[in-house]
Amino acid sequence: MNPSSTFRIAVLPGDGIGVEVMQPCIDVLEAAMRRVGNVALDYEWLEAGANTYRETGNALPKATFDACAKADAILLGAMGMPHIRYPDGTEIAPQLDLRFDLGLYAGVRPIRTIPGVPSLLASPRAEAIDFVIIRESTEGLFASRGKGVVTDDREARDTMVITRPVCERLFDFSFRLAEDRRGSGSGKGRVTCVDKANVFASFAFFRKIFDERAARFPDLAADHVYIDAMALSLVLKPWEFDVMVTENMFGDILSDLGAGLIGGMGYAPSADIGDEHAVFQPCHGSAPDIAGEGKANPTAMFQSAAMMLDWLGERHAAPSARAAARLITDAIDAAFADGRLRTCEFGGDADTAAVTRAILAAIDNDTARVAAGGRA
Ligand SMILES: NC(=O)c1ccc[n+]([C@@H]2O[C@H](COP(=O)([O-])OP(=O)(O)OC[C@H]3O[C@@H](n4cnc5c(N)ncnc54)[C@H](O)[C@@H]3O)[C@@H](O)[C@H]2O)c1
Repeated sequence: MNPSSTFRIAVLPGDGIGVEVMQPCIDVLEAAMRRVGNVALDYEWLEAGANTYRETGNALPKATFDACAKADAILLGAMGMPHIRYPDGTEIAPQLDLRFDLGLYAGVRPIRTIPGVPSLLASPRAEAIDFVIIRESTEGLFASRGKGVVTDDREARDTMVITRPVCERLFDFSFRLAEDRRGSGSGKGRVTCVDKANVFASFAFFRKIFDERAARFPDLAADHVYIDAMALSLVLKPWEFDVMVTENMFGDILSDLGAGLIGGMGYAPSADIGDEHAVFQPCHGSAPDIAGEGKANPTAMFQSAAMMLDWLGERHAAPSARAAARLITDAIDAAFADGRLRTCEFGGDADTAAVTRAILAAIDNDTARVAAGGRA
């Protein structure tokens, strides 16, 4: 068969468990696309990361960046190793360079309870956790990366940057996502701005632009919560939120908190989306504490790959790609549904290979959906 939609994917496994979850992810993508038909991916495996820096002196070689810029989408494992650092003491993080250099302003981090995966929250309402953090990903406090100043070993300064054009695109993206989620039945039609506008001029500006853009979406609820109050609310009543949008550093922190609510980093996918490019990667890092043991939970990597297929399908009007994305998401839910698949976050013995096998089996078993999803 000659697939009608073929997309070029730049594959950056990176470091540590990023490498370990990438091939299983390709296996899952291929299995889903085989069942759906009419869509194919053409992979280009590329070098980048802390180990690449150690070997070559360059964490993101130009050839890798150029291939990423030409690809239809970028699939990334994880990058960075705590013991490999630049001379200024900061870590190698080419995933941040990609966000800045490709203008990937919207960091999309869905936080959803997978039925069958336990939550550490005692309330049964934890089963209804389903919200999305939009982390601005090109400015905020991270604009200071590589520009921080230490004076005479006495004082250090990093500067936060908030700009109107990025905020406008970011907030419009967030409101449109809330519309889509409400349309698909998963959202509440609510967007929450998370800031510290009570203290900082930059956040008062952020909030002012949020309110301006909210006025363009009168059918959606728009509200504000300070970051410290949001840290509390995400533990006490996370099921009340829908879409929340925040600055880069706050989003970095809140998304790990969110991952903790639904079982850990292995269940938290992400997409970094701009107007022309997008990177899809799990929220987790290279996890040096478990790297090499084969026990990393690959679910977030698979969920991120499903987000990639969905984004490609929407952008290129390729319904088969979106059907393959749904198939992967449904297979993940099916694999965990009976509560027996226990990953290492819970002290279980379901390692990378076991989780992958279970999800591949669920993809193969999902004949009903394939029939409905439309093999040509
Ligand atoms: N986007 C990225 O590539 C990214 C994100 C965060 C951290 N990092 C880098 O990764 C390195 C390690 O950072 P860290 O330890 O702070 O964060 P981490 O996400 O790598 O690990 C945090 C904890 O979560 C666990 N964990 C993470 N992913 C898991 C998975 N898939 N399955 C089971 N357990 C998992 C780890 O074992 C660890 O206990 C650092 O060098 C850091 O800079 C990279």
